Amino acid sequence: MKFFIDTANLAEIREANELGILDGVTTNPSLMAKEGITGANNILKHYVDICNIVDGPVSAEVIATDLEGMIREGEELAELHKNIVVKIPMIPEGIKAIKYFDKKGIKTNCTLIFSAGQALLAAKAGATYISPFLGRLDDVSTDGLALIEQIRLIYDNYAFDTQILAASVRHPMHIIHCAEIGSDVMTGPLSAIKALAKHPLTDLGLQQFLADHAKGNK
Ligand code: G3P
Repeated sequence: MKFFIDTANLAEIREANELGILDGVTTNPSLMAKEGITGANNILKHYVDICNIVDGPVSAEVIATDLEGMIREGEELAELHKNIVVKIPMIPEGIKAIKYFDKKGIKTNCTLIFSAGQALLAAKAGATYISPFLGRLDDVSTDGLALIEQIRLIYDNYAFDTQILAASVRHPMHIIHCAEIGSDVMTGPLSAIKALAKHPLTDLGLQQFLADHAKGNK
């Protein structure tokens, strides 16, 4: 399973990249705003900064919701760097935009996926990735992992090569469950990725090994 980090924070992206397990980055307009990145030029420069840190796909979201606007913004984003993936919302105009970009060989990530039907449409349009929002479904008492399982089954039935990118991942168990059910990618915060490494018995065991070594080497 590929690991993407879901942030626009350059320090966190660097830290995750230095772990050596990072495959890519996802951003969205809220994450950009959280980092105080505003204005078209600053936003474009920030995507380039991210691409210069991580050698892997970097999702950059369009703001327009009409087809012409999405195409214009998407082409501008794709020009920035070879690793840019144009993030398009799951709306009817978005489906048309995904088809357009697929024909042009530009990679897309169809975002705001909350149902299997939406995932099926995005795959038929030729999306490179789809982003089902796991945590936001859990937030409204709906099983986000069950949706990912359903999409996995549908994509496997027809050998769609669209990749399932589990998004809105909030904690390490989300990541583990995504791996169990065959999500192609997960994108989550640095805290969830780092939490995978933690176990109290590891810390205790290491403490004991070091203490025993110190005793024997007095
Ligand atoms: O990639 C989508 C993701 O950023 C949404 O996460 O935690 O805002 O639901 P969250």
